[in-house]
Amino acid sequence: MKFLSEVGKENLNGKKVFLRVDFNVPVEGGGLKEIYRIKAHKETIDYLISAGARVALISHIENSFKNIVSDIGKILGYELGFEDDVLNPALNSPLTLFENIRKYEGEEKNDDNFALNLSKNFDLYVDDAFSVSHRNHTSVSAITKFLPPYVGFLMNKEIKNLEKVLNEPASGKTIILGGAKISTKIPVIKNFLNKADHILIGGALANTIFKFKGLDIGRSLIEDSEVTEALKETDWDDPKILLPEDIAVSDDKTGESTPEITQLQNLKNDQYILDVGPETIKQFSEIIRDSKIIIFNGPLGLVEIDVFAVGTKMLLDSIIRSKAFSVVGGGDTLALIEKLGLFGKFSYVSTGGGAMLEFLAENKLHGLEALGYYGE
Ligand code: 3PG
Repeated sequence: MKFLSEVGKENLNGKKVFLRVDFNVPVEGGGLKEIYRIKAHKETIDYLISAGARVALISHIENSFKNIVSDIGKILGYELGFEDDVLNPALNSPLTLFENIRKYEGEEKNDDNFALNLSKNFDLYVDDAFSVSHRNHTSVSAITKFLPPYVGFLMNKEIKNLEKVLNEPASGKTIILGGAKISTKIPVIKNFLNKADHILIGGALANTIFKFKGLDIGRSLIEDSEVTEALKETDWDDPKILLPEDIAVSDDKTGESTPEITQLQNLKNDQYILDVGPETIKQFSEIIRDSKIIIFNGPLGLVEIDVFAVGTKMLLDSIIRSKAFSVVGGGDTLALIEKLGLFGKFSYVSTGGGAMLEFLAENKLHGLEALGYYGE
C-alpha cells in the first residue's frame, strides 16, 4: 500500500486528485443529522490543499449533495465548489464536491470503462473512505487500475485501530454488539469466539438469538428469515456469549407507553423488547470495567426513544469510565454519540458501519484489496 503521508507535498502541487470520501450522512429536514463522518476527512483534505493540489471530493449519499454543499464547506472550513458532472469536471476551485457518484449506473457495477472515464481528468487517487470499502464499486475498486492509488489519513487510522482491536490477545477483550442488521454481525461473533473473553449482545440481535433458541420474544423485532442457516453454525450456549438477563419492554413498538422491566420468561406475547434491563446493565458494566479492550457496534435498545436508550447510554458511560482501549462504530451508534456529545471520549470512533463489521469478521474488503492491503 502507498500512503498519502509518504508523498512529499512538493509532489502534489498542481496535481488533480480524485479523493474518495464517505459523506453519506443522514439529512433530515434539510439539515445534517451527523457530521462526524464529514469532519473525519479534514486531515486528508487539509494536507492536499496545503500542498497545492486541486481536489475533487467524490462520495455517495442517499439522495443529492446539492442542498448541503455549503453546510459541508463550513464543516470542512473551505469555500466548496460543486459539480454535477464528474466525467467533465471544470475543477475551478481548489476543493470541489461532486454530485452523488451512485447516480451513474457504472458506479455500483465496478465497471472498468466507467473507471477509465472517471480517471481521465485526474493524476492520482486517494482513498479515505474506509466505511464504503466493503462495496465492490468503481470509485473504491476499479478506479485503482487507472490512477495510482494512495491511502488517506482517515483510511490509515481506521485500519490501524481496527487491526489493533482484532489482533491484540483475547484476554481482557470484550465486544458488545446490538442493533438490527443481524446477518452482518453473526460472522463477527463467530470470529470473536476465539478472539475475545466476552461477547455481550443486546438489541434486535439478542431477540433473534432468543427466538432461534426457541424462546418466546412476544412481538419484538427480529430478522430471522435470512439468518437461520448462519445461526445454526454458532454455539449460542458458549459461556463467552452473554444475552440480556432482564429486559425493558413496552406494549407498543413506538415505545410510547412506560417501560416495564421484566425477565424473558415473563414477557407477554403482545409486548416488545425495547432495551436491556438494570441487571443486564450491571452485569455488562462489570465486565466492561475489567476489560482492557472494548469494541462496541450497534445500540442495545430503541435509542431514538429516550427511555429505551438507557441501557446503551449507561454502557457507553461504563466504557468511557473504564481504562480500556475502546473502539466504537456503526451508523446508529455514531448518531447517538453525536447527540450525546460523546465524541472524543473513546479511544477511537470508527466511521465504518458495515465495513467495520466486515473487517472484524476478517472478510476481505474490496476497497482494501484494491489498495494492496492483502498483498499486491
Ligand atoms: C455506510 O453508510 O455504511 C456507507 O456509507 C456505505 O453505505 P451503503 O450501505 O449505502 O453502501
